[in-house]
Amino acid sequence: MLELKNVSFSAAGAAGRVEILEDVSFVLPAGRILVITGPNGGGKSTLARVIMGVETPTAGQIYWQGQDITALPITQRAKLGIGYAFQQPPKFKGVKIRRLLELAGGHEMGEMECCAYLSKVGLCAQDYIDRDADASLSGGELKRVEIATLLARRPTLAIYDEPEAGIDLWSFSMLVETFKNLRQDENQSIIIISHQERILQLADDIMVIANGTITQRGPRAQVLPGLQADDYDPSCPAPASWKEVHLGNDAKGGARV
Ligand SMILES: Nc1ncnc2c1ncn2[C@@H]1O[C@H](COP(=O)(O)OP(=O)(O)OP(=O)(O)O)[C@@H](O)[C@H]1O
Ligand SMILES: [Mg+2]
Repeated sequence: MLELKNVSFSAAGAAGRVEILEDVSFVLPAGRILVITGPNGGGKSTLARVIMGVETPTAGQIYWQGQDITALPITQRAKLGIGYAFQQPPKFKGVKIRRLLELAGGHEMGEMECCAYLSKVGLCAQDYIDRDADASLSGGELKRVEIATLLARRPTLAIYDEPEAGIDLWSFSMLVETFKNLRQDENQSIIIISHQERILQLADDIMVIANGTITQRGPRAQVLPGLQADDYDPSCPAPASWKEVHLGNDAKGGARV
């Protein structure tokens, strides 16, 4: 079980300190899928980085399986079974994809085992295992390698940050199936940050983060219908009349030309 208690995070901005997360508290029990969504810049990736230990909260505590991990570095949290697939995956010059999978899995891997992970994200092992995980990969390929690496790590808490980003429709369908299968593992807790309805449909619970706070949280059946409504706009406080001035009367049609 993951528990965040009154977690806040601020960083230095051009006009002084900016509050990026404010008083975030929630519990994620084992075996559940939590999908986090919300407007760009709302604080979703920051929350993921704080849970992984890439950033340290400025206030509050994080507990994982009853242990206070707030002060633990990334490596310690990884040892405790927490894994994070970055929204923008790092590149590894000179490191073969097979080696990355082996490092994640903690043992040497034959082609068949690499294939088992890579095929879950729509990549053919024969074409990829001997390639470097560097800038020679396309954005979508790099993203899929990152996800396969987290699958190979088999963490007890897996955090996927916008797994759909840059991924083609066919690979995305495969990924949705992969997540569906992961939900059968009742010991693994999964957080998926996503803007995609097909991913939201996989959630046990949905949480909306906007302006650094949780604005909605609850079971999928309770939260999703509101998100699907046309008028949902969790972040913009501007009155409709203001938007009309700038976008024209046809709000759904976008900017006036
Ligand atoms: N270290 C930092 N210093 C200053 N501002 C930061 C820092 N980290 C994040 N931010 C700002 O905090 C806000 C939240 O960023 P974050 O990446 O968490 O958003 P997000 O919800 O993941 O957005 P998206 O949907 O676009 O991925 C953004 O406005 C971002 O520019
Ligand atoms: Mg993000």
